[in-house]
Amino acid sequence: MDRHWLLSPFNHFHLLFLFLYLFFSLATSLNRDGQILLRLRACLSDPNGVFASWDGANDTPCNWTGISCNPITSAVEAINLDNLNLSGDFPAMACQIPTLKNLSLGDNNLGNGISQRDISLCFRLHYLNLGYNIFSGPLPEFLPEFAELRWLNLSGCNFSGDIPASFGQFPRLQNLTLGNNLLNGTIPPFLTNLTDLIALEIGYNPFTPSPLPLEIGKLEKLQNLWVATANLIGKIPESIGKLGSLANLDLSGNMLTGSIPESIGGLKSVTQIELYDNQLSGFLPVSLGNLKSLKNFDVSFNNLSGKWPEEFARNSLVSINLYMNNLEGPIPEVLGLNTELENLVIYDNKFSGQLPANLGRNSNLVMLDVARNLLEGNLPPYLCRRNKLEILTITGNKFSGQLPESYSHCTSLIRVRIGDNPITGNIPSSFWGLPRVLFLDLSNMKLEGPISSDIAKARNLSHLNVSGNGFSGNLPESLCLLRELAKVDAGTNSFSGPLPYCLTQMRNLQRLNLTGNRFSGEIPASVGSWVSMVMLDLSNNSFSGSIPPELGYLLLLNYLDLSLNSFTGSIPEELGNLPLRFFNVSYNNLSGKVPKAFDDTGFLHSLIGNSHLCSPDLKPLPTCKRPGNIKQLWYLTAILVILAILAFSCVLCLYRKYRVRIHQRPGLQNHSSSPWRIIPFHRLSLKEDEILSSIDEANLIGSGGSGKVYKARLKCGEIVAVKRLFLTGKQDFDGGFQAEVETLGKIRHKNIVKLLCCLFKSDMKILVYEYMENGSLGALLHGSKGGELGWEKRLEIAVGSACGLAYLHHDCEPAVVHRDVKANNILLGGDYSARVADFGLAKLLPRRSCGDGSEMSSVAGSYGYIAPEYGYTLKVNEKSDIYSFGVMLLELVTGRQPIDSSFGENRDVVKWVNDAACSGALDEVHDSRFTSPTPLQKMQMENVLSLALLCTSPVPNSRPSMRRVLQVLKDVQWHPFNTAKGFSSHNIS
Ligand SMILES: *[C@@H]1O[C@H](CO)[C@@H](O)[C@H](O)[C@H]1NC(C)=O
Ligand SMILES: *[C@@H]1O[C@H](CO)[C@@H](O)[C@H](O)[C@H]1NC(C)=O
Repeated sequence: MDRHWLLSPFNHFHLLFLFLYLFFSLATSLNRDGQILLRLRACLSDPNGVFASWDGANDTPCNWTGISCNPITSAVEAINLDNLNLSGDFPAMACQIPTLKNLSLGDNNLGNGISQRDISLCFRLHYLNLGYNIFSGPLPEFLPEFAELRWLNLSGCNFSGDIPASFGQFPRLQNLTLGNNLLNGTIPPFLTNLTDLIALEIGYNPFTPSPLPLEIGKLEKLQNLWVATANLIGKIPESIGKLGSLANLDLSGNMLTGSIPESIGGLKSVTQIELYDNQLSGFLPVSLGNLKSLKNFDVSFNNLSGKWPEEFARNSLVSINLYMNNLEGPIPEVLGLNTELENLVIYDNKFSGQLPANLGRNSNLVMLDVARNLLEGNLPPYLCRRNKLEILTITGNKFSGQLPESYSHCTSLIRVRIGDNPITGNIPSSFWGLPRVLFLDLSNMKLEGPISSDIAKARNLSHLNVSGNGFSGNLPESLCLLRELAKVDAGTNSFSGPLPYCLTQMRNLQRLNLTGNRFSGEIPASVGSWVSMVMLDLSNNSFSGSIPPELGYLLLLNYLDLSLNSFTGSIPEELGNLPLRFFNVSYNNLSGKVPKAFDDTGFLHSLIGNSHLCSPDLKPLPTCKRPGNIKQLWYLTAILVILAILAFSCVLCLYRKYRVRIHQRPGLQNHSSSPWRIIPFHRLSLKEDEILSSIDEANLIGSGGSGKVYKARLKCGEIVAVKRLFLTGKQDFDGGFQAEVETLGKIRHKNIVKLLCCLFKSDMKILVYEYMENGSLGALLHGSKGGELGWEKRLEIAVGSACGLAYLHHDCEPAVVHRDVKANNILLGGDYSARVADFGLAKLLPRRSCGDGSEMSSVAGSYGYIAPEYGYTLKVNEKSDIYSFGVMLLELVTGRQPIDSSFGENRDVVKWVNDAACSGALDEVHDSRFTSPTPLQKMQMENVLSLALLCTSPVPNSRPSMRRVLQVLKDVQWHPFNTAKGFSSHNIS
């Protein structure tokens, strides 16, 4: 063998390598733009894999996702990577591409600050969109080189501070969009130097209260002026009338005062004016009549007075919102000629006279709400002429006469509130059966006749209120066909006959109020089917027979009034099981011994008027003769047996616990020789011994149902939270744990605490989380500093945590049920941003059958937050999280712990607030540490309370989804007034 032969494979290999290298470097003749883009790719994390098409083997990047090139020169001109879940810092190197004009990275998770140096690379851009990311810090200064910039969108981030002076110097800027940030300087007058602007959108920022620049009229090209919820004070400048191109004027949700200037008549092109929720006073200017393009006009919730100018009523508006002002005088008759009108919402004013006779005749009227004015006369016949009317609310006026016959054909109606008007006569039978109606309120009028059996056709009916009228006859059996029926109030009428048997089988019925009628006959045992019943009032009728013990099994029944009837027999012991907050069986013919549960002076007024009831010690009831000895003996035996079982199981439990302790006694380091396994979820450099050595009582920062939490300072300087899970005894590691933890580790969301890694070996499991500076919401809220947590912060925390939970429920696959939502599991960052912690942990832990309360909490939630259904189904799902979240909302508004002895016996915060709501005293439950809340804050609190009460509804299905909760909270935060309109207020209740 010669030497050459020996070396040749090596040489061949070299040659091959060289050849391959040359081949690839020639093949990857990717141009410079492409190479810049590849560097950009390396800076961004891309969970959706959008960069898969960014192939370094191409010549140009023109074929790559999100990249557009000049068709002739193949130079990159636009990068559009909106809404792709990208994270990382602002990738300024994109602007190294000299031909780049458009850079759009909106709706991603890009974060941290943007420096002047970063942005200065981008001076050639025409279009820059960084909106809806998580950038923070001050807005970057733009140097005067930005001569070409036309569109700048930095909205929806966390930018704070002032709008820099350089923002007044863009020579060509057309759209400036800075809304939805945390900008907290004043609104600078220099913005009016940007005379090319067609859109100025700076709403939803917590600016220092400041007026709209006086010279706003200089922006003559402006089409969109959006400064909603931006702490505007002072008057609307006179110069506003010069904005002849303006299409949208939105200054809603501010603190503007003074009157609407007459000059507003100069907005020749305006289609929408939103001035609701300010403190505007004075009259509606007559010049509004000049606005021929105007379609939507909303000045609700101000202090406007005077009349509705006839000139203005002639315009063809689509939507008119004037509610909650002090407007008076007639509603102009000419409104009936408007061919465009769809929504007319003017409740809570002092309008008088009649509704225009032609209202609804010439347009597709959808919503009419004139509640609580001084309107009178007959109802106009044409409201539903086009069969589009969905919402009809005229409650609280002085309308009289009969309900027009034409309304009985209005099959489009969904929500009808006619109550509290002196309307007379019979209701036409087809009106009862309108097929889409959900909510029918005919209360407190002078109506007569029967409820027609045609009501069976109202398939969607859920709320029926006919109370306070002269209705008579039997309740029709066809009511029972209405599957959705949840609330029936037929109190104070002249109904008679028996309770229809089928009615007692309606499983969805929640409230039934028949007080003050002439019903008779017995209550059948089939009432046991009323599984949803919450409130039952049969008082003041002629019911007889015995009270069915089956009532005592209705788990949700908390209001029971059977007083003023002719019931006989004894009070069933079973009623003592009910979670009653109201109970009355007085004035019947009941006899026998008062059940133990009611043998209390607090119930005396609920029992009187039954001459044969007796009690061993409740005076003035007579004492009972000879109690049944045999029965008592039987009870005694049963109790003894139960006690014995309990004692035995506790001993067993203690024994097990003791054994566990012995097992866990040895120190951590030398615990077992089996190696640790580490699953990392984020890039971070930590060593297991750094983590293990932090597990020391000196570093303990918390202890909860699932384990103890320690603070660990890593060598690199970073601080993390280390959670050691409680485990019972020795458990073999199973793949289930790993799979579960991996699911949790993959979750990335700004409102969810980051799980950094997991360490485990057979008998010990440790989770490492990002450290949250301000600790838990529970500790802060109920600690000495709770008062410093102002309402806006709390609302922000509510929104943030809802956002995190909504993500877990709706955006994770498979959905993650938290199982232990509570204030202690909401952690707060340095800026008090909320993050949900400890989600899904309960599932990782072994089930415990006994122990103290905190250990139980790892299984089913924490005391005070546990949904009532847990008591009987033991199934935990999203709806139980919603319940717990509702409790937390109550905690945020009231500042109280969920369980507090001051609520009274057997009352938790839910019951306490519910009772306050029932007695109309909701504003008395606000945290007393809020010093003089503003009317806006009060309204927000009320809305949050209403939402919380919905969330804590005893019926899981009537709790809203987390997504809906989030939406409502955001509305409360940003459109509190709309929320009042759409969510909790009277007209759309
Ligand atoms: C662009 O990509 C498609 C497939 O993704 C390919 O068929 C086409 O040849 C590519 N065009 C260029 C110019 O690279
Ligand atoms: C700029 O604003 C106008 C007026 O609101 C709007 O129609 C247009 O779509 C905006 N352009 C961009 C690029 O956002």
